[in-house]
Amino acid sequence: MCGIVGITSNKQVTPSIINSLRKLEYRGYDSAGIATLSKGFINEVKCEGRVDILEKNLSKNKLLGNIGIGHVRWATHGIPSTINAHPHSSEKVSVVHNGIIENSTILKNFLIKKGHKFKSQTDTEVIVHLITEYLKTNDLKKSVLKTLSKLNGSFALGIIFKDQPDLIVGARRGSPLAVGYGPNENYLGSDSYALKSMTNKISYLNDGEFCIIKKDDVEFFDADGNKVNKKILTLSSSEQNYNKGDYKHFMAKEIDEQPTTIKNCINEYLDKISNSINIFNFPWKKNEISSIVLIGCGTAYHSCLMAKYWFEQITTLNVTVDIASEFRYRKNRFNNETLYVFVSQSGETADTFAALDLCNKKKMKTCSVVNVVESSIARESKFVLPIHCGPEIGVASTKAFLGQMLVLYILCLKLAIMRNDINKNEYHKKIKSLFSLSKLVNQTLETESKIESLCSSFVNIKGSMFLGRGYSFPIALEGALKLKELAYVHAEGYPAGEMKHGPLALIEEGMPVVVLAPRDEYYKKTISNMQEVIARGAKVLLITNKNKDEIHSENIWEKVEVENATDDLLPFLITIPLQKLAYYSALKKGYDIDKPRNLAKSVTVE
Ligand code: AGP
Repeated sequence: MCGIVGITSNKQVTPSIINSLRKLEYRGYDSAGIATLSKGFINEVKCEGRVDILEKNLSKNKLLGNIGIGHVRWATHGIPSTINAHPHSSEKVSVVHNGIIENSTILKNFLIKKGHKFKSQTDTEVIVHLITEYLKTNDLKKSVLKTLSKLNGSFALGIIFKDQPDLIVGARRGSPLAVGYGPNENYLGSDSYALKSMTNKISYLNDGEFCIIKKDDVEFFDADGNKVNKKILTLSSSEQNYNKGDYKHFMAKEIDEQPTTIKNCINEYLDKISNSINIFNFPWKKNEISSIVLIGCGTAYHSCLMAKYWFEQITTLNVTVDIASEFRYRKNRFNNETLYVFVSQSGETADTFAALDLCNKKKMKTCSVVNVVESSIARESKFVLPIHCGPEIGVASTKAFLGQMLVLYILCLKLAIMRNDINKNEYHKKIKSLFSLSKLVNQTLETESKIESLCSSFVNIKGSMFLGRGYSFPIALEGALKLKELAYVHAEGYPAGEMKHGPLALIEEGMPVVVLAPRDEYYKKTISNMQEVIARGAKVLLITNKNKDEIHSENIWEKVEVENATDDLLPFLITIPLQKLAYYSALKKGYDIDKPRNLAKSVTVE
């Protein structure tokens, strides 16, 4: 999704802005642009397409200046085009924007009546003209405050001014925004990652705040224009995590990193000597929680669905799972004894953040499971459980999915022992088996060559289905999502037992169907459902686990076996071949694996 960079310095800023925009490419975008201030004029260079094209355009049309803003745009209002690319500028002001201005049509009509001329189809351009209008009669701070007060919707903004050659204004409502501090220069970025190569000293704007950034000073203000003090955080995490190394794609690297990320996460949360969980500062007591609501979007939602099975199996809590974009507008029955858990890799997903904000306003117990610990969702939650996966750059979530499931499973065990829902022996046993998970995932990665040889059957097809029951059902949904987003193949995840209630009609001769049937308590039932699709012509790829017992079924097209594990842990293992299947199918088609079309890594608009 859109990304913002701003730099004010005592040296030329265009090369560093380009560098930072490259860091933001992982978010997914369709156009890019830069504006700088030089010799009293705002100049911009923009393009449709990638930052590479922008850089080529810049070699023909040099952008000089010690102050500038840059942007990668993911289209919301108006098609992807050079005209609609940001920055948008008037003679006086230039603006980059993430988010959506909901009342842009009303504001545009008001501004047209005042004589302003619009060039683009974007909602952003109204911000440019509003500030330009208010600057006629107000100073900079008042013009900004007045403009922000007129905007409905969500935004992160970076603004430069023709008549203020030494400053950038940043403003935030809804969409995240960070300020970075460097030697004789300061920065604005839609996330700290964009600024990583320049600084690890960061402050975050809270909702409603704005800031004035000069090369040697930064001031922060609340929505009423009162000055606020900010903490400067020092970020960790090495730059090396952001490189592909010898891999062709981040996604391939991230899939293969899973044994390590699981090990890291287990080391953070589990004590090997006592076989217990190291979450000492959990803020709530056992009688304060009687139910749990798990909320997320996309892959994170699938990890919540998975966790529901564990919570119901291992604890006596009532468990509900919700898609954040639904939760936030539903008439919810808020309950003081409910723990609301928000799951998000980026920690910036607009819908998940809005659902959290709603719960916070109702004074509910909120906990987040995130990868990015400096994110808005982490900062606004009462309690945070990081998944310790390191940066995930590929748009398709892989290692974060396993990390989310792992942390939710650990939380489930934590609540189970705290509430005496599980006996101690069982608890220690489950924890002990977690210590073998990293190795099992590593061994399961060896299914890769088999999957690679099968993927051509998933490339040029009308559609496919992913079936599973119980613990395997959420994984079927995730497997289908991965194939859709990477290989652009219609794929549907379905509970295997539901097929005969309608979707069986879709099965035709040769249709590839992935059946997830590890030898857990659902195994026999799933195998029966598999027979039903085979009988109707489906070409079944069975994913199961290694076992000496024969599978009593004929006409299975292909079989992939993951390692053997407890029922609780099999979902982690059967995920691996599905990630590889999507990866190799997309590779075969020559698609942009790390940046699939139309998608963004961090979905910061609703
Ligand atoms: C997964 O592959 C996705 N691209 C997407 O569904 C993602 O999981 C979703 O947008 C939620 O993101 P988050 O975890 O950063 O909140």
